[in-house]
Amino acid sequence: MSVSAVPPVEAPAEEALRPHAETAYAAELAALAAADDRPRPARWLLSPWAVATYLLGGTLPDGTVVTPKYVGPRRIVEVAVTTLATDRALLLLGVPGTAKTWVSEHLAAAVSGDSTLLVQGTAGTPEEAVRYGWNYARLLAEGPSRGALVPSPVMRAMAEGRTARVEELTRIPADVQDSLITILSEKTLPIPELGEEVQAVRGFNLIATANDRDRGVNELSSALRRRFNTVVLPLPASLEEEVDIVSRRVGELGRSLDLPAVPSGSAEIRRVVTVFRELRDGVTADGRTKVKSPSGSLSTAEAISVVTSGLALAAHFGDGVLRPADVASGLLGAVVRDPAADRLVWQEYLESVVRERDDWKDFYRSCREAAQR
Ligand SMILES: Nc1ncnc2c1ncn2[C@@H]1O[C@H](COP(=O)(O)OP(=O)(O)OP(=O)(O)O)[C@@H](O)[C@H]1O
Ligand SMILES: [Mg+2]
Repeated sequence: MSVSAVPPVEAPAEEALRPHAETAYAAELAALAAADDRPRPARWLLSPWAVATYLLGGTLPDGTVVTPKYVGPRRIVEVAVTTLATDRALLLLGVPGTAKTWVSEHLAAAVSGDSTLLVQGTAGTPEEAVRYGWNYARLLAEGPSRGALVPSPVMRAMAEGRTARVEELTRIPADVQDSLITILSEKTLPIPELGEEVQAVRGFNLIATANDRDRGVNELSSALRRRFNTVVLPLPASLEEEVDIVSRRVGELGRSLDLPAVPSGSAEIRRVVTVFRELRDGVTADGRTKVKSPSGSLSTAEAISVVTSGLALAAHFGDGVLRPADVASGLLGAVVRDPAADRLVWQEYLESVVRERDDWKDFYRSCREAAQR
């Protein structure tokens, strides 16, 4: 067997399909650290002010432009960052696609320089993923020892004074969730097999995300809930804000996929976002016509992927300019989740709203063609 066929375990960071936030924005983080003369909590790489600036964007005294990562109320970010500097953990709550995961990753990157201490919550997440596991070969050979212990990301964050992340907390079985209680209240993780414990050092904290559409969010035990400050991430407040978010993210994703640039706030992006908002709100933007809402969530995140796929179609099979026909089928896929009920909702919306708009004729035609295919 040729050894060269085995890929290297770690490809160079610049080759990664999706670099971690601390890699992708290393230059911004370094410029912020250099400009930051405010007090930093123990083991934080930046002051709370600089972390908030990293998330919200701004221009530094030396002229470095920090791009906004999160577009939304400043206060939300300030409360989230401040929470991390206290002894309470942070719970980011919101409907799908409101940037919970995104904000969690960027907070961890800015505070600890490491967003990878991550536990992905699912119905099958075992206690080992939150506490620690064992390397069974070594456990059999040596018996329980520090060397045979496999620390979880949370245990590593405690020992190193960094930020741990737990994604989709409410999907984790209740007994496994409860293993977080001691960690968050006592700041210690006992290892009975060794008669030892790992004590969290200063700088440790934890960010959890939870989707408030998931069943079970109310079942978060009150003992655990009390250990968290909850910050709710809202849907974008206005059309302009959402167009801005989608334009920025499509630009960034497009660059990493070598796709052509779309003018910010292009007509197609505005139309996709308008359609998403109207269907989500159940009423047209002018407030005049009621429309039915489909079963899917139609989140900002989905608008981003509809536009990005459209851009890829335009690049590979069109002339590189995003046109209605490029977004129509993606839009249909996002809206029609339930083949029967959602299809009717979409047809009704096309006929009663889209068709009536004078400057949407080509868009109407493309959507109808896509729906008939
Ligand atoms: N207010 C916002 N500011 C900046 N980006 C946003 C905003 N809302 C959504 N996004 C973008 O949406 C995308 C998806 O967000 P993310 O995956 O973090 O959502 P989520 O809330 O974790 O969703 P889910 O509940 O499905 O896990 C990201 O690329 C993010 O940039
Ligand atoms: Mg998420």
